[in-house]
Amino acid sequence: MGKTRLDHHRFAMDVVQQEATPFYYYDMDMLHETLDLINQLTEGWPYMVHYAVKANGNPQILKHIAKSGLGADLVSGGEIKAAIEAGFSPRKMTFAGVGKTDWEIRLGLQLGIGCFNVESIPELEAINEIAANMGTVANVALRVNPDIDAHTHKYITTGTADNKFGIGIEILEQVIGQALEMPHIHLRGLHFHIGSQITLMKPFEMLCDTINKLIDKYERHGIHFEIINVGGGLGIDYDHPDQHPIPDLEGYMGTFKRLLQLRPGQELHFELGRAIVGNCGSLISRVTYVKESRNKKFIILDAGMNDLIRPALYEAHHEIQNLTACSASAADTETYDVVGPVCESSDVFSHDCELPVTRRGDIIAIRSAGAYGESMASRYNMRGLVASLFHPQE
Ligand code: LLP
Repeated sequence: MGKTRLDHHRFAMDVVQQEATPFYYYDMDMLHETLDLINQLTEGWPYMVHYAVKANGNPQILKHIAKSGLGADLVSGGEIKAAIEAGFSPRKMTFAGVGKTDWEIRLGLQLGIGCFNVESIPELEAINEIAANMGTVANVALRVNPDIDAHTHKYITTGTADNKFGIGIEILEQVIGQALEMPHIHLRGLHFHIGSQITLMKPFEMLCDTINKLIDKYERHGIHFEIINVGGGLGIDYDHPDQHPIPDLEGYMGTFKRLLQLRPGQELHFELGRAIVGNCGSLISRVTYVKESRNKKFIILDAGMNDLIRPALYEAHHEIQNLTACSASAADTETYDVVGPVCESSDVFSHDCELPVTRRGDIIAIRSAGAYGESMASRYNMRGLVASLFHPQE
């Protein structure tokens, strides 16, 4: 079981007395519990989990994940450097993304990273050419766009034919043919990713079906893939972070174990981000003012959309808790809009949120902010980059 809400709150309340808000608070016990579960579920199987660093590239978090033995899924030269710094082995790195630049490709080749996930013919040609100039061979998986609708938010669906990601199945055969001809490309596998925050298993089941058909087809043509990479995308419970702190990794991995017909010698790779770190983090903030307008009551926080952009960008829901008031017994409640100080109308964390009666100075937790929180923070309005705190502290 994950940490209870009370443990979480007590710690946050303790540290908040000493620390300036806002800050990200990370429950490292929960992170370790999740990592242990992943290692347990993959043990004895030809499975390799790469942590999607884009979800949270905080150096402390990376260090702990690297230590647990996971690989890293990276999408920029900056992420590659951060992963090296944190201690990930280059052999356990994949480098993905539609727009890899020449210096990033060179960096990946110099380090001998495990696999470039390639998204187009021009990219394949560029990697082949750069590898030739460096006198080396690039390990490559082709990212296939499987045209599966993951039924998630339109901004985080990636596997349908209408978006920029991957190589369409209709031209895959041609691209595989070209890759096999290129002397500085070692085609190791196929890569898929259908979207993010997927909470139903159906899209993953459909993905297994698509992959099985492709494996069959290419085995018949005498082409064997060493790696099948199914991407990431497993969602977390944003509505009940205390009841379900860790997502159903067993059900998720079980779906692939049950349905995917791997061939002897084939490895299955995953690229999970949110599922690993999402519920480990909360954004802790202080109430600057409680303001009443004609129709509404606003809680104005010292955290803003620059610290956590998901609600403003995706209308994402994060549970909001008043840590000061929830320790008082039988508190009366009120309905508030919880907003930040940034000069944008979209700087809203929650509309019509029922909370205990809240006062200036109260401490607020915005939950499930461990993934795509700190990593998407900006300095908009020239605000400082948000700080981070870990429990237990190092
Ligand atoms: N692999 C690839 C190729 C990806 O594009 C992504 C995420 C992942 C793995 C990791 O996905 P995860 O397991 O974390 O779902 N900023 C958005 C999410 C964007 C996801 C981008 N790609 C959000 O805050 O919801």
